[in-house]
Amino acid sequence: MYRSHTCGDLRASHIDSEVVLSGWVHKVRDKGFVVWIDLRDRYGVTQLVFDEERTSKKLLEKARTLGRETVIKASGKVIERASKNPNLPTGEIELLVTGLEVLNESILPPFTIEDDTDGGEDIRMKYRYLDIRRNPVKNNLIFRHQVTMEVRKYLSGQGFIEVETPYLIKSTPEGARDFVVPSRMNEGQFYALPQSPQTFKQLLMVGGMDKYFQIVKCFRDEDLRADRQPEFTQIDCEMAFVEQEDVLNAFEGLTKHLLKEIKGVAVEDFPRMTYDEVMRRFGNDKPDIRFGMEFGELNEVAQHKDFNVFNSAELVVGIAVPGAASYTRKEIDTLVDWVKRPQIGAKGMVYMKCNEDGTYKSSVDKFYNQEDFANWAKATGAKTGDLILVLSGKTNETRSQLSALRMEMAERLGLRKADEFAPLWVVDFPLLELDEETGHYHAMHHPFTSPKPGQLELLDTDPSAVRANAYDLVLNGNEIGGGSIRIHDKETQAIMFKHLGFSPEEAKAQFGFLMDAFQYGAPPHGGIAFGLDRLVAILGGQETIRDFIAFPKNNSGRDVMIDAPAPIDKEQLEELHLKLDL
Ligand code: AMO
Repeated sequence: MYRSHTCGDLRASHIDSEVVLSGWVHKVRDKGFVVWIDLRDRYGVTQLVFDEERTSKKLLEKARTLGRETVIKASGKVIERASKNPNLPTGEIELLVTGLEVLNESILPPFTIEDDTDGGEDIRMKYRYLDIRRNPVKNNLIFRHQVTMEVRKYLSGQGFIEVETPYLIKSTPEGARDFVVPSRMNEGQFYALPQSPQTFKQLLMVGGMDKYFQIVKCFRDEDLRADRQPEFTQIDCEMAFVEQEDVLNAFEGLTKHLLKEIKGVAVEDFPRMTYDEVMRRFGNDKPDIRFGMEFGELNEVAQHKDFNVFNSAELVVGIAVPGAASYTRKEIDTLVDWVKRPQIGAKGMVYMKCNEDGTYKSSVDKFYNQEDFANWAKATGAKTGDLILVLSGKTNETRSQLSALRMEMAERLGLRKADEFAPLWVVDFPLLELDEETGHYHAMHHPFTSPKPGQLELLDTDPSAVRANAYDLVLNGNEIGGGSIRIHDKETQAIMFKHLGFSPEEAKAQFGFLMDAFQYGAPPHGGIAFGLDRLVAILGGQETIRDFIAFPKNNSGRDVMIDAPAPIDKEQLEELHLKLDL
């Protein structure tokens, strides 16, 4: 028997019991006449004690030589600790060891397995199995499991059926590049790994499954960021005979359930804002609404004076930063430098202070009087003691720059609180988006999304004005889910493909299976997919999804532990009918 209990089990009630524990040597403290060992496993840490009085000399010597991370089995009697540790669940007791067996040695780990480790990101990723022994990583994985269990429980309770869909498929456009897999049996042909199970879940609706979900890996070859991985997990869902309202209600229910069960937080009904509204009020389609600092448009009150920078701008817009009127010149200069960084790209920034004495002070005093500034304050909702920061330029660019500044200020002021949850539905997304580089339109969500009723005709005259039955779920400034009501008839789908630049032949070759299926009584349907990694990270009070994935990839898409991707040998290439000219 390796163990009678885990390293997290033993309490004062076990005193005098004979037990067996197995685990890793976390720490050895050798005081000469007594040796303590912290023994660790997934469940906790238990203190082992060896001393001159009660332990044999041989055992004491053996304990002394154990290196960190050695795997041991220890048996003995649970005794009361002389000095108790209230911070440890097992802190009232220790194990007086009478039997000790080394199950496996460990060489010196490349970093210390402690909560605050000395190991940098790269080394921890290379030895991720050691990193997983650390509490922060281990707890994140356990947390992810709990979220996943609650998702399955809730959705199953609501009548959703989990169905698996294939990974070796044909390209499904979700806006990224595909990862492809060559086919040995079909020379010169490739599978694509799914960017999402989108078309399959729609086919499941045609198949009459009615309510489907799947916790599923998706693969997207795109540039990586803190909230993006090349392979990530979705909670993918689809429902038949539903309108947008039904889908929003169903998944608001899921999100509320998770917040309640996982975080113990009860939230009101989620606010809803249209895409146009969030862009105007926050300059961003995934605004963090845990705090204010809403945009105040200043064109009316700041243009037509002598300040040409504003006069020539398409948009002049500001935010009121609470209590920041006391910022020094130097502090404001650092903000100016911050917005001018290439990542943000603003040309400059104007400020206006709402002083405690009721006066206003600005970097553009010579162009405006106090009455003008009072209007700025009104437009941005600034109060005495606030600092207004103003950017100007082209509408979209300026909005995105000010949105970044709003988030930065919130970060600096500590307004992005990890234990506060502010969900938001963003609805009525544009159906199409103009790609500035190519001049072509592409689907903002995906090509299977239906336009709002009666807007199909607009596609010919004013494509960017067409709104879609598409929605995103935003949580604390992160897009955690997105979905839409789908097109479910062949004709509309054909019109969509045409507007996306597919010839009828191309549409048939790529999506013939879906258009065919639509001819056999496809029910109206719609759904959503949550990014599980993001959802878990945000519920866990963080934003880096890597920390909630057991074996993540680095920013170059590499798994540095197994060293992938890697070349394959010549025979394998030949078998796959691939030739590489490198
Ligand atoms: P969408 O492309 O919006 O929709 O993806 C759904 C959610 O998946 C998460 N996500 C990602 N998470 C981590 N790494 C990535 N690279 C990544 N890409 C996306 C986001 C996003 O909100 N088939 C549609 C859903 C539908 O219409 O039902 C789809 O995939 O949280």
